[in-house]
Amino acid sequence: MKKKTLLILLLATAFLHACDRNKKLENIQVLSPKGKVEVSFLIKGDGSPAYVVKYKNNTVIDTSTFGFDFKDQISIGNNMEIIGSKTSAFNETWEMPWGEQLKVINNYKQLIVNLQEKAEPKRLMDVVFKVYDDGIGFRYEFPEQEKIDTLLITDENTQFNITGDHKVWWIPGDWDIYEHLYSTTNFSEINALADKYKVDLAQTYIPENAVNTPVSMKTDEGIYLSFHEANLTGYSGMTLKIDKENLMMQSGLVGSERTAYKVKRALPFHTPWRTIQIADKAADLIESKLIVNLNEANKLGDISWFKPTKYMGIWWEMHLGKSSWDLASGKHGATTKNAKSFIDFASKNQIGAILVEGWNTGWEHWIGFEDREGVFDFVTSYPDYDLNEVVRYGKEKGVDIFMHHETSAAIGTYNQQMDTAFSLMQSLGIHAVKTGYVGKIIPKGEYHHGQWMVNHFQKVIETAAKYDIVINAHEPIKATGIRRTYPNFVSREGLRGQEFNAWSADGGNPPEHLPIVAFTRMLAGPIDFTPGIFNIKLTPYRADNQVNTTLAQQLALYVVIYSPIQMAADLIENYKGQAAFQFIRDVGVNWETTKVLDGEIGDFVTIARKERGTENWFLGSITDENARNITIAFDFLDDNKKYEAIIYKDGKDAHWDKNPVSIKIEKIIIDKTSSLELKLAAGGGVAISIMPVN
Ligand code: NOJ
Ligand code: CA
Repeated sequence: MKKKTLLILLLATAFLHACDRNKKLENIQVLSPKGKVEVSFLIKGDGSPAYVVKYKNNTVIDTSTFGFDFKDQISIGNNMEIIGSKTSAFNETWEMPWGEQLKVINNYKQLIVNLQEKAEPKRLMDVVFKVYDDGIGFRYEFPEQEKIDTLLITDENTQFNITGDHKVWWIPGDWDIYEHLYSTTNFSEINALADKYKVDLAQTYIPENAVNTPVSMKTDEGIYLSFHEANLTGYSGMTLKIDKENLMMQSGLVGSERTAYKVKRALPFHTPWRTIQIADKAADLIESKLIVNLNEANKLGDISWFKPTKYMGIWWEMHLGKSSWDLASGKHGATTKNAKSFIDFASKNQIGAILVEGWNTGWEHWIGFEDREGVFDFVTSYPDYDLNEVVRYGKEKGVDIFMHHETSAAIGTYNQQMDTAFSLMQSLGIHAVKTGYVGKIIPKGEYHHGQWMVNHFQKVIETAAKYDIVINAHEPIKATGIRRTYPNFVSREGLRGQEFNAWSADGGNPPEHLPIVAFTRMLAGPIDFTPGIFNIKLTPYRADNQVNTTLAQQLALYVVIYSPIQMAADLIENYKGQAAFQFIRDVGVNWETTKVLDGEIGDFVTIARKERGTENWFLGSITDENARNITIAFDFLDDNKKYEAIIYKDGKDAHWDKNPVSIKIEKIIIDKTSSLELKLAAGGGVAISIMPVN
């Protein structure tokens, strides 16, 4: 472009922008690219900025306001005017280094609204909306301005004014842990303070009637909504406070007992995105990529040193009580010999890695101890575990080792040792670590989801990246799509995982748990659920516990619950001689495409995924406590190709409690015109591997 033309263009843009700024608009509308979602921005009579969201002309969020309370200045959020605004369109396709799919379309309309208070102190605040066809994200930006350089936020007052007493799938707004069971109630019946949630978890704090996110809902008109946040960085986690009378939710940030504010930030800064996913089929909530799209592009570049993989390891046996993490008990699980037997089995069964928990000193002083700083040591093994030899043997057999760092939430100790621990891993060629944060955070007064811990996880992920290490965090900060920016944050817990089936006193995860998780927690990102328990009744170790699904459902979970690392969690002896284990050998862990074929929140879900680098498809379907018939149309397959489908389905008499291991394995030839009727048992499922016939 010629210099002169460029200058004219620049001047024209500046002029338009200046006009924008002087116009004092009162109502601005933005439509998503295909027009499904509409956001209106307005200033109410009292000068409060507000928004309204419509989906296909139905109001799904009615007039809802924005605002903040601060420690040392008056609240912001009324008596404001619009001093400028700008809309733009954006469309890109980016690639996931690993994921549910290779290519992701990021297509939205953006609206930036510049606000200013009409009276002194005349503070500036911008609100930015990204409007997608599958929902919206919005965030606050505080530009540099005179009179303020730092904000001490005591709370954020973002409203979500829903338009009916929707059916809601929720967990309580716990500042410390996400390992609660979901409740299904109408909005007006949400009670996070109910006795049911006063449970004895190693850490829990539910200060008010609020819910954690993602929280999903269904309206009477059949519209599905899910509320969460994206790119939680340098800020504290958001719970949603429940106002039953007004059918409204309002953000409630996680705080700290050590400070009189919840978030401290120097200007300029922006908050995480507040997200609302919207769909008219529940299945579309899972296909939506809104959360990752709202995160920044990959900052790490090529991370091909990490390969998605299945893993097994010294883990379930501790949860069963067969062995223990500590040495003093006399039944230490993490021995060189035991690790080698896992390596042997993994190497023969297409399992790429093993996890060894309880390998390092400190476990004698873990749960129940207040003074946990300085206890765990992330470089010193117990005397019966030879780390170098285990790594060497793994290399010989082509099996990687997953490191384990249970920090016991003693953050000072982990901060101190992190570099040393990561460099030990690097020197051994270990690229993955499972971290753990069981217990109340030390220093006392911090919570797992406050700004202080969000910053800790940011430091861990950035430090790990320097050593070519990926993180799988348990008791983590919630997932908010950061994996797009830092693809070394590969998986997390942050839900009630399989472990509860081994020991919880309340009967474990009920059959409806995962059909809810798929439409709630899983919208946030990958889950290290640890499926694949074949010995459903846990004999002889846990007479009072069991897994509340059929064996076929355990297989289906490898497809339904997404993670680039998937554990085959059971003991070696429970896999030996099992025909059903072939599915775990075969199933992929990294996907080219994902199709969510059908589902209803809390009832059932059916997902098909195509493996990257092969022509293989895998399908999983799971149901709650109700048996149900499903029909699968294979129209997602390629044209003119024949496939062998190996079907792992519930036996005729299967039932999660009465007969969980009844399974039938069948082989048939299919193509894209085929369809199949299947009966899922109560608490059951089906897993199908679909491989082209040459
Ligand atoms: C809790 C984790 O969720 C579990 O997977 C792990 O085995 C224990 N903590 C010990 O770190
Ligand atoms: Ca846990």
